[in-house]
Amino acid sequence: SRSYRIAQMAGDGIGPEVVAEARKVVEAVASAKGFGLSWVDYPFGAEHYLKTGEILPESVLDELQSCQALLLGAIGDPRVKAGILERGILLKLRFFFDMFVNLRPAKAFPRVPLPVPLPEGREMDLLVVRENTEDFYVGLGGDGGSPVDLGLERGLYTMEGEMRVRFSTPQRSAFQVGLATEGAVRRITADACERALGRGEKRLTLATKANAMPQLYGFWEEMARDETEKRGLTFETINVDALCYHLVRTPWKWNVVLCPNMFGDIVSDLLAALSGGLGVAAGANIGAGLGMFEPVHGSAPDIARQNRANPLAAILSAALMLDCLGEKEAARSVEAAVGAFLAGARPDELPEEMGGRGTTSAVGDAVASHL
Ligand code: NAD
Ligand code: IPM
Ligand code: MN
Repeated sequence: SRSYRIAQMAGDGIGPEVVAEARKVVEAVASAKGFGLSWVDYPFGAEHYLKTGEILPESVLDELQSCQALLLGAIGDPRVKAGILERGILLKLRFFFDMFVNLRPAKAFPRVPLPVPLPEGREMDLLVVRENTEDFYVGLGGDGGSPVDLGLERGLYTMEGEMRVRFSTPQRSAFQVGLATEGAVRRITADACERALGRGEKRLTLATKANAMPQLYGFWEEMARDETEKRGLTFETINVDALCYHLVRTPWKWNVVLCPNMFGDIVSDLLAALSGGLGVAAGANIGAGLGMFEPVHGSAPDIARQNRANPLAAILSAALMLDCLGEKEAARSVEAAVGAFLAGARPDELPEEMGGRGTTSAVGDAVASHL
């Protein structure tokens, strides 16, 4: 019979709490659908780092190749300088396995309280397709440790006046470079187009900021337009600031939104808020090799270890994992179980994030009981 080897990195803060519930639900659906699971547990995160100094050993990257998927909770802890664990574990995994697609569906489930209620008959069901390997995440830059000469006098920059004066005496300067390569923009656009078509949608929206950063995002627009039109879809670009404005006011008007890495990060938190909370926002990192499934949210240190976190995002991320493993029926069942829980819960049984008093484990149990 079918069996899958799944790596688990519960990570920091609420990570272990929400992953425990996701695993509970995945176990329940596996026995209902008759497939097996073996879990390989990894301890990486703040606790392990503070105890051992180890972040994510190279040997683990090799080992992970023998797993079919990785389920991750969250990485990051206030006791560790920002970026060390996030770049050293999370981004390392995304980059090493070239998980170039970051899928972040934003769907408002019926009966979930929304900060901006939808008008009668309107639905919110978007898919953010976030480029996951480039943009300002590549780690190219200077951290302000020493004076930087940006070479303005050599004509690298076309601005006159103010900027030139500001850089004429080298001073400590920090900078971080945003990268877009043709191959990466084309492959993510092609992927987003396929996903749009799969949803019966003939339009693709790209979030940019070509008005302020024409080099980087003008290039994005050019490449993405070509890939989109080639596939017969209507291509639309919008400045990300205006997009945020419209998403809040008319979320039902949007479907598949393609984003460069950093805008995708920001837009997906905004959409999480609009669709019921970070605790329902699921995510998948997909490439040609290992896939990593993780909620959009972080380790939420403010509510960690209190059984207060909403585990639905982790549970729905596990559903995305099942889908990628080819267990489509199991994936649909988990999504349906979340929907059934939300539709049937008394207001006080909802997660705290949604105004109820449902604990992390009670919400996980309730979802599992629908399977
Ligand atoms: P966060 O997403 O952890 O928290 C933002 C707010 O949302 C907090 O008030 C938190 O309590 C709330 N929240 C988040 N998830 C929730 C849930 N499931 N249920 C109820 N409430 C929830 O973002 P942050 O505070 O910016 O980051 C905290 C740490 O997590 C940082 O170290 C950051 O780098 C890291 N982080 C990791 C990931 C990841 O591993 N994928 C993602 C984002 C942030
Ligand atoms: C996310 C997180 C990460 C990101 C951080 C922790 C590096 O915010 O997964 O959304 O920016 O991608
Ligand atoms: Mn984020």
